[in-house]
Amino acid sequence: MTTMKLLILPGDGIGPEVMAEVRKVIDWFAAFRGLDFAVEEDLVGGAAYDVHGVPLSDATMARAQAADAVLLGACGGPAYDDLDFSVKPERGLLRLRKELDLYANLRPARCFDALADASSLKREVVAGLDLMIVRELTSGMYFGEPRGITELNDGTRVGVNTHRYTTHEIRRVARSAFELAGKRSNRVCSMEKANVMEAGILWREEVTWVHDNEYPDVELSHMYADNGAMQLVRAPKQFDVIVTDNLFGDILSDCAAMLTGSLGMLPSASLGAPMANGRPRALYEPVHGSAPDIAGKALANPIASILSFAMALRYSFDLEAEAEMVEGAVEDVLAQGIRTADLGPAEGGRTVSTGAMGDAIVAALAARDS
Ligand code: IPM
Ligand code: MG
Repeated sequence: MTTMKLLILPGDGIGPEVMAEVRKVIDWFAAFRGLDFAVEEDLVGGAAYDVHGVPLSDATMARAQAADAVLLGACGGPAYDDLDFSVKPERGLLRLRKELDLYANLRPARCFDALADASSLKREVVAGLDLMIVRELTSGMYFGEPRGITELNDGTRVGVNTHRYTTHEIRRVARSAFELAGKRSNRVCSMEKANVMEAGILWREEVTWVHDNEYPDVELSHMYADNGAMQLVRAPKQFDVIVTDNLFGDILSDCAAMLTGSLGMLPSASLGAPMANGRPRALYEPVHGSAPDIAGKALANPIASILSFAMALRYSFDLEAEAEMVEGAVEDVLAQGIRTADLGPAEGGRTVSTGAMGDAIVAALAARDS
């Protein structure tokens, strides 16, 4: 196997703490499974701003272009709240997504059995939950032009963002969703607001076109996104794959995250077109943010980041068995009652630090390996 080039961008807040635990898992696979990783580390977000005056330097962008997979921690924090919009920490992340053209953002929401009681919903609603949100990530409201804040002659200020999608942008993310569904329960639910938005009508038509012409065997349904949000908390197990636009996907995925017990559990993969070596352009990051309130206190849950690395093994490197090993190790640790604080106490279990959670997962990997 050729070397797997990883670029780690820990970023801000709890980012460096959780990425240190990912590093332990990477090192374990290198030492005990002979996987050949070349790991580089660099700055993103506020950490990059502090050094370079921008949230992502051109040099870091070039390293990201050259990597097989970028592993990102988190961006942002209160110290950067008053910065100009163009250099806010989040702009670093958005630049990576846009310039790597990572159009398909996979956000699996899976409720580990041991955590079914940690969800704010009843156990029977979430136990066994396993759904996948495919969020379009490079277009729509986040990037559409025109955008900005302008002033009218009478001094009234106007804020503008544009929700814009092309045929090509909708079709390619729809294909990602149908492909994934084929490996799961073969059902896709597409969410938009075709009742009030022209771009929603186009979304529905193009998803239907891809379905009818390319994936007729996948079961396709459509739902207005507001109803989708309601259904996600009412009966989330009705869904297999959900495909939706950038902004609705942002909101619906936070909603889905809480079904799993904690935002600290949710990984994500952002995938683009294949590179020359056949591997897709890819960035992996936890769905949670920089959590400045708990940063530096060893309280953060590293599981979302570690599960994001498992997604890297699966989607960038085709290492399905290794990905399942990581997911299994997480399951084992949770079943032993080991919890970070965000997950609440387990009966007869113990609450541990970020570092101890990483160690426990590595120990569980070793136990599965022997
Ligand atoms: C996410 C985050 C980002 C987004 C922020 C940090 C820019 O909320 O990945 O869901 O809005 O996409
Ligand atoms: Mg979000």
